[in-house]
Amino acid sequence: MKFYLSCFLCVVLSTATFTADGSTSDLSWTSLGKLIPGEIANMTFSLLPKLQENVTLRLNTTHEHSATKGSAVTYPKQFIFPANFSTFLVPINACAVGQIVVEVNSTNEDVSLPESPRFRVYVVHSKTLVILNTVVGWIYFVAWSVSFYPQVILNFRRKSVVGLNFDYLAYNITGFIAYGLYNIGLFWIPAIKKEYIQKFPDGVNPVEANDVFFTLHAILLTSITIFQCFIYDRNGQKVSKIAMGLLTAGWLTVFILLFVAVGQKITWLDYLMAFSYLKLGVTLIKYIPQAYMNYKRKSTEGWSIGNVLLDFTGGSLSILQMFLQSYNNEEWDLVFGDPTKFGLGLFSVLFDILFIVQHYVLYRKKRIVEGGLLAGDDASDTDA
Ligand SMILES: *[C@@H]1O[C@H](CO)[C@@H](O)[C@H](O)[C@H]1NC(C)=O
Ligand SMILES: *[C@@H]1O[C@H](CO)[C@@H](O)[C@H](O)[C@H]1NC(C)=O
Ligand SMILES: *[C@@H]1O[C@H](CO)[C@@H](O)[C@H](O)[C@H]1NC(C)=O
Ligand SMILES: *[C@@H]1O[C@H](CO)[C@@H](O)[C@H](O)[C@H]1NC(C)=O
Ligand SMILES: *[C@@H]1O[C@H](CO)[C@@H](O)[C@H](O)[C@H]1NC(C)=O
Repeated sequence: MKFYLSCFLCVVLSTATFTADGSTSDLSWTSLGKLIPGEIANMTFSLLPKLQENVTLRLNTTHEHSATKGSAVTYPKQFIFPANFSTFLVPINACAVGQIVVEVNSTNEDVSLPESPRFRVYVVHSKTLVILNTVVGWIYFVAWSVSFYPQVILNFRRKSVVGLNFDYLAYNITGFIAYGLYNIGLFWIPAIKKEYIQKFPDGVNPVEANDVFFTLHAILLTSITIFQCFIYDRNGQKVSKIAMGLLTAGWLTVFILLFVAVGQKITWLDYLMAFSYLKLGVTLIKYIPQAYMNYKRKSTEGWSIGNVLLDFTGGSLSILQMFLQSYNNEEWDLVFGDPTKFGLGLFSVLFDILFIVQHYVLYRKKRIVEGGLLAGDDASDTDA
């Protein structure tokens, strides 16, 4: 926010008046796109309002990762921001694939540094891959977001939720609410964002706007599906005692931790982490009851294969993206250093494959025999 504001100011106030005695001047800079080895890019530093004295700024690497022995990036360790200038260009030289986090500092007391005075430079193998990664990212975001609709439509057409497992829905809504709270906290609450910067000064906030949108949308659509369970034929199905027990234990834990956080025994950031663990736990078990139910019924009737196919598309593309990104940055921590994200993606994809086998191979005959209207519904659902 502050960054955009200063950019805005830097356009509007480029003819700003000089700073009065005693006040400070805000230093800011623009972030660079991804560079390729050999590229030299100018980084624009702004100092507003202008200062009437030369200011020395120091740059220092705080985190570095490079595919080769040398540095990924070279830059001047210090430079003089000239008096009476509002912007100044600093050349940044990309040498090898990798990334670097640079801290900006000034001993001049007229200069006020941003809250997190660091910038990050990425050097990648290929800019085409960067674009491809963005496209892949949008496709899986859409696939995952749309994946909720086929089930809602199937329920609506059948006026029945028989065949859809209620434990799965209970786990899903818990998972998305927990994930939603985590995302909103890290994305919107300044105090928590600040805690994140303090705890991981070289890190990047893991939550982006589309994560927030995805989760809020997921909560809405899962709620609609749950609402359908109340109004359509459900053949007496209830959420099982096991699921009730596990979910109560989960929510009770975060409720108790709330008091621990209020009592300042843990930070709010740590408290939010509890929600991400809840989401993780839920994701590990949520498909099991549905798979078991299909097995017991020897049928996938009522369980939307459209949902499974879209989830499979989203999951496999997200894994593909992790690999492409890791290759492009030569940073394999994403795949092997963060087993949670990778493992969860892989886990969901494996369950989707199980559902696909159940639907198209194992219980195919049964579906055709029981057939009639409902099989027709399912087929059109597949096309969707
Ligand atoms: C960087 O700025 C210098 C002048 O300060 C200019 O000659 C050079 O072309 C710029 N390089 C890029 C990549 O914009
Ligand atoms: C500021 O630095 C420039 C060179 O970058 C120098 O020519 C000038 O004399 C300096 N001005 C002051 C006020 O120190
Ligand atoms: C540069 O950063 C490193 C790592 O944070 C730190 O140990 C070192 O003291 C810093 N050097 C300067 C000159 O600030
Ligand atoms: C900066 O501008 C002020 C006012 O225009 C002027 O008095 C001063 O000499 C300038 N300083 C430099 C270093 O150019
Ligand atoms: C900036 O430099 C000063 C003096 O060297 C040092 O005390 C201060 O901790 C540095 N600030 C940062 C953010 O590194």
